[in-house]
Amino acid sequence: MSKDWEITGRARVCGVIGDPVEHSVSPAMQNAAFRALKLDFAYVPFSVKKEGLARAIDGVRTLNIRGLNVTIPHKVDIIPLLDEIDSQAHQIGAVNTIVNDSGRLKGYNTDAEGFVCALLRQGIEPEGKTVVVLGAGGASRAICFALAAEGANLIILNRTPERAAAAAGEISGASGQRVEVMGLEPRNLSEALEKGQIVVNATSVGMLPHTSATLIPAALIRPHHVVVDIVYNPLKTKLLAEAGKAGARTLGGLEMLVWQGALAFEKWTGAEAPVDIMRKEAGRALSAHEK
Ligand code: ATR
Repeated sequence: MSKDWEITGRARVCGVIGDPVEHSVSPAMQNAAFRALKLDFAYVPFSVKKEGLARAIDGVRTLNIRGLNVTIPHKVDIIPLLDEIDSQAHQIGAVNTIVNDSGRLKGYNTDAEGFVCALLRQGIEPEGKTVVVLGAGGASRAICFALAAEGANLIILNRTPERAAAAAGEISGASGQRVEVMGLEPRNLSEALEKGQIVVNATSVGMLPHTSATLIPAALIRPHHVVVDIVYNPLKTKLLAEAGKAGARTLGGLEMLVWQGALAFEKWTGAEAPVDIMRKEAGRALSAHEK
C-alpha cells in the first residue's frame, strides 16, 4: 500500500452489516473514496445473523464505530435499536445507513435519497412526471416515497397487487401525490407505459443468473421514456439493452448503488464524496464478480 494513505490509531471505522455481505462492493467503493481524499477512515464487512443484531448494535456504541450501511436482512429490524430515525426513513420503514455521534445512533435511508440524486444528476426531474414503478418490495417502497416527495405521480404495478395497494395508501397520504396500483399484466403495462414518462424496474427480475428475463416487452418502450433498472448485476440488464435499442434514455442500478454510498460517505465524513472514483471502483468490483 502506498504511504500517502494509512490507517492510524485515530482512524474511524465504518462498515456494512448484513447476511450475506461477502459479495458487497461497498468495502471496495468506500475505501477507494477514503483513500482518494486521504481520510483516516476504514470500511469493513460485518456478517451478522438476525439473532445477533441487537448485540452487534451495542458493539457499534462500545467500539465507537462511526457509521454503518445496513443491508438484507436487517433494514427493518434495526429501527427499534436506534436512538433516532430520519423522517423519510421512518415513513419508508427501513434504514440503510447509521451515523454514530458520540454513542447516539441515527438511522437514514440513502437508498431513497440516492435514487433521486441519480436521476437529478442526469438532468431527469421527477417533479410533475408520472413514474411507472414495477415491484412493491422494500426497494420499491424507498423509491416510491422518494419520488412522491419530489412531486411525481406514481403507477405501481406488482405481481401481487394487494401488496402494492398497502404501500400506495401510505405514499399518497404522506405526499399528497396521485398513486395508482395495477396488477402486473400485459394490458396494464401497456396502459401504464402510455401514461408514464419514467419507468423503473424495482424488482429483482433480470438479475444474475436470470439475465434473459425482463418484465417489460420491448415493443412497449418508446424513445420519450426514461428507463431505470435497480438491478446492477449484470451492469447492463436485458431491460436496459432493449430500452437503449428502442431509443429511450437509460439509467442502470450502478448509479443508485453509487449515490446511496456517496450520501452515506458524506454523512460519516462531512466531506464531499468523490462520486466518479466511487462509480469506477464499484463498476470494477462488479465486473470482477460477473466474470
Ligand atoms: P426488495 O426488498 O429487494 O425489494 P422483496 O421485498 O422480496 O425485495 O420484493 C421483491 C419484488 O420483486 C416484489 O415486488 C416481487 O413481487 P411480489 O410482491 O408479487 O412477490 C417482485 N418480483 C420478484 N420476482 C418476480 C417475478 N419473477 N415476477 C414479477 N415480480 C417479481
